[in-house]
Amino acid sequence: MSVDLHHHGDRDVAAGLVDLAVNVRLPAPPPWLADVVARSLADLGRYPDATAATEAVAARHGVPVEAVLPTAGGAEAFTLVARALDVRRPSVVHPQFTEPEAALRAAGHDVHRHVLDAADGFRLDPAAYRAGGRSRTGAGAADLVVVGNPTNPTGVLHPRADVLALRAPGRTLVVDEAFMDAVPGEAESVLGHGEDLDGVLVLRSLTKTWGLAGLRTGYVVGDPALVARLRAVQPPWSVSTPALAATVACTSDRASAEAEAAALAFRRDRAVLVAELDAAGFAVAGTPATPFVLVDTSPLGPASVREDLAARGFAVRRGETFPGLGPTWIRVAVRDVATSRAFVSALSELRSRRVA
Ligand SMILES: Cc1ncc(COP(=O)(O)O)c(C=O)c1O
Repeated sequence: MSVDLHHHGDRDVAAGLVDLAVNVRLPAPPPWLADVVARSLADLGRYPDATAATEAVAARHGVPVEAVLPTAGGAEAFTLVARALDVRRPSVVHPQFTEPEAALRAAGHDVHRHVLDAADGFRLDPAAYRAGGRSRTGAGAADLVVVGNPTNPTGVLHPRADVLALRAPGRTLVVDEAFMDAVPGEAESVLGHGEDLDGVLVLRSLTKTWGLAGLRTGYVVGDPALVARLRAVQPPWSVSTPALAATVACTSDRASAEAEAAALAFRRDRAVLVAELDAAGFAVAGTPATPFVLVDTSPLGPASVREDLAARGFAVRRGETFPGLGPTWIRVAVRDVATSRAFVSALSELRSRRVA
């Protein structure tokens, strides 16, 4: 089935609705960070210099500067991966954020999809990717594997060991950790454990946690030889001076402490949302570890409930544009407890109407 890989949550929001569709934590960066960005404007007359940002990211993750490349968000990194590497059989673990596949396709690649099973909680079984395994053209033959951890939209956090078990000789493993800073302790990140990153590229985004989607900030950490290939195809000055200043600020100890506090708050608020959904008879996918949860609305029938929820004031992210999901799945952002309760009561109201 063909789906619109470029559909994103912002297109599911309309004026006047409570936005549970977009998964950016803040509507704007916190004041201390906005100040950093504002001060950097005095330097706009000069071309950007990524040295300080590269050093800051390297220090944050305990890697050499050669292992780091600041990018214009995670999105630019997907395009660099798709263009820079000599890849013949890329495979994407789905359901997941669709831009990696879209970037690979735009670069002319045929993309293999490895679709995880809802019935199994969207668990990743690395055995499916064993080299020479199940299929000579499918997962086992992949020379590039892209996996999200934790995964958008399923919310599933794969164990680090399972992610690293996807490595194989001659294969590049790309781990999209765009939401890892929203997981307490960044548990299960492949970074920060002194892991050898041979053949691995980890993508990070600074746009979600910091309300910087409009600035475009992120970075790649990984195998220096692969990072050098990405750097070679990155357009000059791709990351702007304000974005680089934000990168330095967002990788500081202060920022890490603030992100950790936010991750803990998300965990508390998510537990309430999941418990309320459960009490109302709606299951979520897996054991979510993200600032959003994927809700199974199939008890309400086979059609999407998005329009009905919009009529009750709530915008949610549709599931059907993610390979492996259908219209009965909706992605719901974790907001404050009062908002979550109001949302679940709106969803439950649909049940009484439809069943009646
Ligand atoms: C899982 C995931 N990875 C990466 C990105 C890209 O984020 P950005 O380009 O804003 O850093 C997104 C954005 O929605 C995402 O959901």
